[in-house]
Amino acid sequence: MNKQLQLIFDFIQQQEHLNADKKAILAKAIKDADTAYTISEFKLERTEKVKRTTAILLEETIEELEQKRKAIEETNEALSKSLEELKSTQAQLIQSEKMASLGELTAGIAHEIQNPLNFVNNFSEVSNELIDEMNEEIEKGDLEEAKAIANDIKKNLEKIHHHGTRADAIVKGMLQHSRSSSGEREPTDINELADEYLRLAYHGLRAKDKTFNATLETDFDESIGKIHVVPQDIGRVILNLITNAFYVVNEKSSFINLSSEALAKLEASEDTYEPAVSVSTKKIGNQVFISVKDNGNGIPKKVLDKIFQPFFTTKPTGQGTGLGLSLSYDIVKAHGGELKVETKEREGTEFVIQLPLG
Ligand SMILES: Nc1ncnc2c1ncn2[C@@H]1O[C@H](COP(=O)(O)OP(=O)(O)OP(=O)(O)O)[C@@H](O)[C@H]1O
Ligand SMILES: [Mg+2]
Repeated sequence: MNKQLQLIFDFIQQQEHLNADKKAILAKAIKDADTAYTISEFKLERTEKVKRTTAILLEETIEELEQKRKAIEETNEALSKSLEELKSTQAQLIQSEKMASLGELTAGIAHEIQNPLNFVNNFSEVSNELIDEMNEEIEKGDLEEAKAIANDIKKNLEKIHHHGTRADAIVKGMLQHSRSSSGEREPTDINELADEYLRLAYHGLRAKDKTFNATLETDFDESIGKIHVVPQDIGRVILNLITNAFYVVNEKSSFINLSSEALAKLEASEDTYEPAVSVSTKKIGNQVFISVKDNGNGIPKKVLDKIFQPFFTTKPTGQGTGLGLSLSYDIVKAHGGELKVETKEREGTEFVIQLPLG
């Protein structure tokens, strides 16, 4: 029993003026109070215990939360680091796509420069001989003949100048292609641009693969005039589309060339495949349409949904970056235009660049 209650109990027991009944009533009250007291004490102790365990649990939870916070912080750091790495890899890939398309162009460019260079060499050689002849005529006193020869020399020099300028323009164009775009729009002859890239892409492919042959068709709308675009950028789009077109017609014809069974069947049916790529331009209303069409195998439906996605390619590993169409799409969009595709399996594909005039 509680000490104080015990004291009261003993005190009551000693009181002689209280009879046994009253003492019994008081004793019961004191015992009840003691029971109630013991229960409260027990409850208090239990609450204390709960408090202590809760505090410990709370501390553990706080520690756990802190650990989780740290882990999230570390994950965040790692994520932003890999995002940064991803960005720089993407920039590198875009650069390498550019270099790859420059590589595709180089052989074509070499071929294009070779022509004017041949002219320059031949005409300067001929002019050199003509000067000897002219001197002979002067010595003979035949000034008329000397003048005529001088005229020929002048014409030759004009031709040399013309072809020299042409080679100069090709080199400048090449430099423009490798440099990052200035982003400046300028009045551009879209027909000339398309024609130039068509020939460069074709000769580039021919230089790599002598057996490659394709019919090139062009149909340019002369009424277009000059339109305001970033020439290097639109040039890249046209080049990407033409390179893709050549790739698929080449693939289709080499498949026929390689498969002797298919070849035998084709010969029997006298049905031979003529790879063809055509580039055409058309002005309709206030829009210009540039079309690049091939008679390759077309694009299967499940591939079609993905062709504009960055890095999507069906080329063998290491051959394509899969950036050609996605970059082209972005460039055309930046010009306020659209890049659309129509395709039929086994029959071919047509890509159309749609640009607003002005
Ligand atoms: N004219 C086409 N005919 C059929 N399929 C095409 C044609 N053009 C593009 N494709 C498909 O779209 C895919 C993506 O083309 P994209 O130009 O973006 O990349 P790529 O040509 O594969 O690679 P890269 O351009 O770097 O050489 C190609 O792999 C091909 O499957
Ligand atoms: Mg491509």
